[in-house]
Amino acid sequence: MAATGCDVPTDEQVLVAIYTPHDHAAVCALWREADMGTPHSDQFASEMASGGIVLLARFGSTDHAVPVCGSVALVVERRHAIVSHLVVAPWARRRGIATLLMRRLEQRARSAGIKMLYLYCLRDNAPAAELYLREGWTLDRLYNGPLSIVRPILVRLGLRRPPLPGLIRWRKKLSMH
Ligand SMILES: CC(C)(COP(=O)(O)OP(=O)(O)OC[C@H]1O[C@@H](n2cnc3c(N)ncnc32)[C@H](O)[C@@H]1OP(=O)(O)O)[C@@H](O)C(=O)NCCC(=O)NCCS
Repeated sequence: MAATGCDVPTDEQVLVAIYTPHDHAAVCALWREADMGTPHSDQFASEMASGGIVLLARFGSTDHAVPVCGSVALVVERRHAIVSHLVVAPWARRRGIATLLMRRLEQRARSAGIKMLYLYCLRDNAPAAELYLREGWTLDRLYNGPLSIVRPILVRLGLRRPPLPGLIRWRKKLSMH
């Protein structure tokens, strides 16, 4: 069950907007700060073009020049709606930004008629796990079984693109209301 205790910033405090290519530099800066590498130049644009959603959060503004404090994306892969790119700048953490972004993304997914969300996360990512549990996500699958032995062969044959071992798949059923 989703918890209600987390203080989520108000609309005046943090504005959530859909990614545009003008935001690319700000997203790169966020990812650098969070030690997440650099997104490909057209990664978010192509996710948006293929029906995905990318949301960005900024304190008090949607101006492209203002630093982005958080990002999250929804992509549809093999008929699964997958949440990805959840990152909050280190200086903005524990202020409800990730919770806000996830809730906004869920609203949009619901409006698009999506009934189940999935996301992949490293098993040792305790902060993220705390957040997902708190937001009503359920552990769906652990990727550390025998498949990991044959994974490279399957990948080479182009038969599948399984996630890396040590990943957890989480899911959340979206209630329609
Ligand atoms: C995980 C992450 C997105 C959380 O962002 P955030 O904006 O700080 O999260 P919130 O403020 O919304 O936290 C909500 C709840 O999640 C849990 N949580 C978040 N960070 C936590 C931490 N470092 N330790 C323990 N619990 C944590 C807490 O229950 C928290 O509520 P509380 O602050 O009232 O205790 C952020 O730490 C991050 O960007 N990490 C690096 C990227 C990453 O791991 N992304 C997820 C990939 S699967």
